[in-house]
Amino acid sequence: MCGIIGYVGSGDAVPLVLEGLKRLEYRGYDSAGFALVEDGQLVVEKSAGRLSEFMASLGDSLPSGRAAIAHTRWATHGAPTDNNAHPHTDCTGRIAVIHNGIIENVAVLRATLAKHGHSFRSDTDTEVLAHLIEHLYEDSLQGAVAAALKQVEGAYGLAVICTYEPHTIVAAKQGSPLLLGVGDGENFVASDAAAVLQHTRSVVYLDDGEMAVLTKDGYQIPDLDTTRVAKAVSPVDWDLATIERGGYPHFMLKEIMEQPVSICNTLRGHLLPEDGNARLSGINLSDAELLEFDRVVLIACGTSWHAALIGEYMLEELARVPVEVEYASEFRYRNPIIDDRTLVVGISQSGETADTLAAVREAKKKGAWTLGIVNVVGSSIAREVDGGTYIHAGPEIGVASTKAFTCQVTALALLTLRLGRQRALSVLQGREIVEALNALPEQVKAVLAKANEIERIAEQYVRAPNALYLGRGYNFPVALEGALKLKEISYIHAEGYPAAEMKHGPIALIDGMMPVVFVAPQDGVYPKIVSNLEEVKARGGRVFAVVTDGDDQIARLADHVFTIPKTLDSLTPLLSVLPLQLFAYYIAVRRGCNVDQPRNLAKAVTVE
Ligand code: G6P
Repeated sequence: MCGIIGYVGSGDAVPLVLEGLKRLEYRGYDSAGFALVEDGQLVVEKSAGRLSEFMASLGDSLPSGRAAIAHTRWATHGAPTDNNAHPHTDCTGRIAVIHNGIIENVAVLRATLAKHGHSFRSDTDTEVLAHLIEHLYEDSLQGAVAAALKQVEGAYGLAVICTYEPHTIVAAKQGSPLLLGVGDGENFVASDAAAVLQHTRSVVYLDDGEMAVLTKDGYQIPDLDTTRVAKAVSPVDWDLATIERGGYPHFMLKEIMEQPVSICNTLRGHLLPEDGNARLSGINLSDAELLEFDRVVLIACGTSWHAALIGEYMLEELARVPVEVEYASEFRYRNPIIDDRTLVVGISQSGETADTLAAVREAKKKGAWTLGIVNVVGSSIAREVDGGTYIHAGPEIGVASTKAFTCQVTALALLTLRLGRQRALSVLQGREIVEALNALPEQVKAVLAKANEIERIAEQYVRAPNALYLGRGYNFPVALEGALKLKEISYIHAEGYPAAEMKHGPIALIDGMMPVVFVAPQDGVYPKIVSNLEEVKARGGRVFAVVTDGDDQIARLADHVFTIPKTLDSLTPLLSVLPLQLFAYYIAVRRGCNVDQPRNLAKAVTVE
């Protein structure tokens, strides 16, 4: 995700903020830039691509100043281009803004500012902030930023400098992390302690609704009404490597734990509670056009393919539209039947998977309307499709996909609402789904808070040579995903199966050495899966079951159980997959595996 660093002091600001950006690289980014005031003029340098290339392009003669702000951007609004890189400036070129987060009412703000004569040079929401601050500037940067933020809806961590007050940085936070680094004769603002740790271990963590006004000699923390807030200075006692992972030992665990927030980000701005519907303007299709499709084809690879399977169950059950799920690698070579009445959706975290990209191109060639459900903004698939939606999961660094999966399933629920409300879904059913989606982040949080239970259960399975994962209905794809997670990172051979299919082969493998993981929440197929579980126990199998809170029937049968809260059947995968991610993670850690970079695997497979 994007990174912020700002410096004000008596040192040379640009090398200091560039060094801070290097410390933020681990978060993932696609462009970088900085701004400072040199001899009364605002100087902005920025470019898409790697920081090392950006720094090399600057040469040896860096601009010089005592205050600078710098940013690494991970695109959300607009492709990762030079133009969209931060900082963004106002019309006069006197105010520069860097910003993490998403401004939700950007369209309204842009239109209003345009009426007042502001013109925009980028596709970003951040540039709108620069113009808004310019528009409201009277005699103080702090006042203008506060006035601007009162008009803003959404999330931000931001820092602003301007030529009128060249030795001041104004920062503000709402929903996106921001802290001050307190030094001796110098002060910093950063999105992450990693960026300031070389210079100070004293930090002040800002809370939502707070601003900071920094100069070389001190700082003030007012709220948007300029009331000063007293804040404690906290010591940082972590080392750099730990901080980059937010205190977690591995990126994978960090990303698992981020899911309450990442799911919120996928949902943000899309739900229409009153209509029981979802707003998906990025699909670029009118209601009438959407009704013309008579089938949907979902194409993907790996974990994204498992998300697609859940999408198939949702779309068919709730939107009553026929769906096929295809491995992208198979689809592209087998001359599939596709025409202009087929809606083809490519699902990809990276947006760069070669097979998925080629499959999308093939579908376009055959006349389909193509959509993307993609995480990385401006990636190849995102650029190739006719429309789609970003999942906004933030950068996923661990090779085994976790938060992208739950965000993909969430996005597919949004697509189900959009297609469903035009077809089979009543407003009441739609509202029920919207309500359940809104409740999910808290439920996810509650499940993840019990990670230590999974850690204890995982201890019992560390030495297993094989594992079988079984689920039915919406949780059959979860069984596949659980098995994939385990084999990817722990190298234990694991297979996922529809629970009833077990009788047609895998049951022959069951003995005391073969753990069987049942994904068995109380949904429409619960009684069926209880029978399957009995069949495994009757043959001496060891069972770990994921069940709904309060389930004592399976608790009596299984060796270990983990409970998840109740939600709609169609949304249970978003909860039931969490213990399986953690189960794989703890087993792999105990086996001494390289969890974040498992052998032979790549985060984005850009070759066939
Ligand atoms: C690789 C990754 C998987 C991922 C798959 C599809 O195999 O290791 O985690 O699920 O590619 O990637 P995509 O970026 O298209 O979702």
